[in-house]
Amino acid sequence: MPIFYDPQTKLFRLDTKTSSYAFMVYEENYLVHLYYGPRVTDQDLQPLMYRGWYDSLSPRNPQVSDPRFTLDVIPQECPGTSTGDFRISAAEARNAAGNTVTDLRYVGHSITPGKPALPGLPATFAQEGQAQTLEIEMADPLTGLKAFLLYTVFENHGAMARSVRFENAGGQPLDLERAYSLCLELPTMDYDMIHMYGRWAKENTVVRHPLQHGLQAIQSKRGMTSPNHNPFVALARQDSGEEYGQVIGVNLVYSGNFAMEIEVDTPGCPRLLAGINPSTFRWRLAPGESFQAPEAVMVFSEEGLGAMSRDFHKLYLDHLSRSQWTKKKRPILINDWEAAVFDFDDQLLVEFAQEAAKLGVEMLVMDDGWFGARNNDRAGLGDWQVNEQKLKGGLSHLIERVNAAGLKFGIWYEPEMVNPDSGLYRAHPDWIIQAPGRNKSLSRNQCVLDMTRQEVRDNIFQQMYDVISQNKIDYIKWDCNRHITEAGNAVLPPERQGEFFHRYVLGVYELMDRVTTAFPHILLENCSSGGARFDPGMLYYSPQIWTSDCTDPIERLTIQFGASLCYPPASMGAHVSASSRTGFATKGNVALMGSHGFELDPRKLTEEEKAIAKAQVADYHKYYDLTHYGDLYRLTDPAVDPFVCDWQFVSPDKKEVLFTRVVMRRPENLYQVRRLRGLDPEKVYVDEETGRKYSGALLMHAGLDLSQPWPGPADGSSVLKHFTAE
Ligand code: GLA
Repeated sequence: MPIFYDPQTKLFRLDTKTSSYAFMVYEENYLVHLYYGPRVTDQDLQPLMYRGWYDSLSPRNPQVSDPRFTLDVIPQECPGTSTGDFRISAAEARNAAGNTVTDLRYVGHSITPGKPALPGLPATFAQEGQAQTLEIEMADPLTGLKAFLLYTVFENHGAMARSVRFENAGGQPLDLERAYSLCLELPTMDYDMIHMYGRWAKENTVVRHPLQHGLQAIQSKRGMTSPNHNPFVALARQDSGEEYGQVIGVNLVYSGNFAMEIEVDTPGCPRLLAGINPSTFRWRLAPGESFQAPEAVMVFSEEGLGAMSRDFHKLYLDHLSRSQWTKKKRPILINDWEAAVFDFDDQLLVEFAQEAAKLGVEMLVMDDGWFGARNNDRAGLGDWQVNEQKLKGGLSHLIERVNAAGLKFGIWYEPEMVNPDSGLYRAHPDWIIQAPGRNKSLSRNQCVLDMTRQEVRDNIFQQMYDVISQNKIDYIKWDCNRHITEAGNAVLPPERQGEFFHRYVLGVYELMDRVTTAFPHILLENCSSGGARFDPGMLYYSPQIWTSDCTDPIERLTIQFGASLCYPPASMGAHVSASSRTGFATKGNVALMGSHGFELDPRKLTEEEKAIAKAQVADYHKYYDLTHYGDLYRLTDPAVDPFVCDWQFVSPDKKEVLFTRVVMRRPENLYQVRRLRGLDPEKVYVDEETGRKYSGALLMHAGLDLSQPWPGPADGSSVLKHFTAE
C-alpha cells in the first residue's frame, strides 16, 4: 500500500510509482513537511528537518525544546496565520475576537482504502484497491477551527489528490478568509514556473520563467476559470525539459475564482498554494458548520513535462471524467455555428445532415439560435423553448429528419445566462447577479443568472428537462459566454456575501450534476467562448470540452499543445472548419489530435474536399483508440520551433504509432529528421504507407527521415504516418 506511517518517528510517507511525499508530526504537534521528490525510504528522510536558517528576528515557540525550531523557515503542510510563519498562509479564520490568528496542530489521522467523494464538488474518484487516502485532523484549540487534510495517492499514476475540509467545532462563528486546498513546500528555488495564459480565441499560451524571490501568482476573479489563466502550474527544475528532469504539475479541480501563488522567501524555499482565490472569498462558519475546499491534483515526473502530461491524461481518463462517454466511442459530429451562426432553419439543418451523412459524419449539433427570440446575440437567452418559426414543425420533427439521414442530434445551451431582452428576464429581473445601487454591466449583451439560488436553478433545469425529455437528444454543448461583475447576492446576509462566488460555482456544479444524472446517455461538451472554462472541474462532468473558438489549424497547434500539458487529447474538441490558412488535409490532421469534428457548411465543399473529409472520418475511426487512449508525445514546441510541429501517439502496448507533422512555415533545411519517442526498441515497426521496416531503436535513436526534395514541403502542409509493430 502506498501510505506509510511510522508511530515511532511519527513520519508519514506517501509513495507513487515515481515519487515519495513525506511529512512528520513534530513536537507540539506541528505538522512539518519534509520531502517531495523521487522515491526514497524512511531512513533517507530521517535527517531532514531544517531548511535555511533562522535569525535573531525569528519568533519561536518556547514550548519546543529545540531552540532552532522556528516557523519562520519550517516547511508546513497547512500553514496558518500569524504564528511566526510570515509566508503566504494556507488557512486563515477570523475569530470572534476579530483577529485572524490561526494555529492548526495535528490531532490524529486515519488511512482508508479508495477515496471519499467531496460533497458538492467534482473530484477524482477511486475504488478500493485503486488508491489509498490519508486524512489528517488538525485543530486550533482556542477557536475550535478544525482542518481535515485529505491526501489520496494514485500509486500507478504518479499522482496525488489533495483537499481540505474545515469545520467549526467551537462555540462562536468563524469567518474563513483563506482556505487553500494544497500547500507544497520545496527546498530550493532552482525551478521554473510554467503556466498558461491567453484570451478569447488564443487560449493556453505556455510561459516558463525562473522563480524569483518574492511572490508570483496566477488567478481568476472572473467567477469562472477564464482563458486568461488556466488553473495549472508546473514547477520544473531548471535543467528539465519535455523529456528529461524533475517536474511537479499542480492542477486545481475547480471552475471558479482560483489562485495559485508561489512565494519564495529569503532562504530561497518556494511555497506553492493552490485553491479558492482568497481575494474574493470569505465564508461564515457557524458553530457545527463545515466547508469543503476543492481538490488539487499533483503529479511528479522525473522524465520531464511529457511524462507529467501523460500521467495527468491517464489519471483524468481513469479517475476524473465520470461520463460513460469518456471510455465509449463518441460519434464524429458536425456543428453548424461557424457556417450558419444565427441564420438557419429546419430545412438548412436537414440539408447539413444529409450532406454530412455522405461524408460519414454521425451527429449534427444545432448550436446557438434555436430558442426564444434568438436571432442575434441581443435577445433570447433564458427562454429555452423551441423557436418554431425557425424550426417549423417543431424540434421532434427536425430530429426525426436528422435521424432519418443517419445522424444523431445535439443541441446548444447557455444555462447560466439571460439577455435583458427575454421573457425570463422580464418575469424575473431580480434573478441576475447584481449589487444594489450599482451599474449592471453587460457583456455580449447578457447578464449572469444567480446560480446560487435554488429557484433559479430549478427554473433552468425544468426548462432544459422539458426539451430534453421530449426529444431524442444525444448531446449537449453547455456554453458560458461572460464573466461576473457587480457580484452581489440578493439572498445572502451581508456577513455572508463573501460566499457568493463559491456558491455560484457550487450552483453550476449542482445543475450540471442534475442534467447529467437525469440524462446519463447524453454526451456533454463544455464550452465557454471556446476554452475559457477548460478545467478539471468541467472535465468531471463532460468528457470533451471545446478547446477554442479559433479553428485556424496553425493557431490551434499552440492552443492544443498548451491544453495537453494536463488535459487529455481525448477531451479537446477540435473541428475542421472553413478557415483558409492550410489545406483541408492539414485541418483534419490537426483535429485528429483531439476529439475530431467538423464546423462548416458541408454543401459548400468541393469534390476534392469531400473526398478528403471522408478520409478524415475514416481516420477518426481507424485511430480512435490510439488518439483517445494512447500516449501523447510532443516532439516539438510550436511556440519555439517556427517551422514544424510534430507529435506522436503510441498505443499502450507500443504496437501502434501515429506520427503527425504540420509544416507551419517551410523549413530552411531540406534534410529533416525527427527522433520518435516511447517505442519499444526491440520491436520492428512497419510504415503503413511505404511498407518500410524500422526497429524501434532506430526510430528513437537515429530518427525518422522526413527530408523532401527541393523546394521542400509547402507551408501549411502536413504528414501523417502510421506504424504497426510486426
Ligand atoms: C461561443 C462558443 C461558440 C458558439 C457561440 C454561440 O462563442 O464558443 O462555439 O457556440 O458561443 O453563441
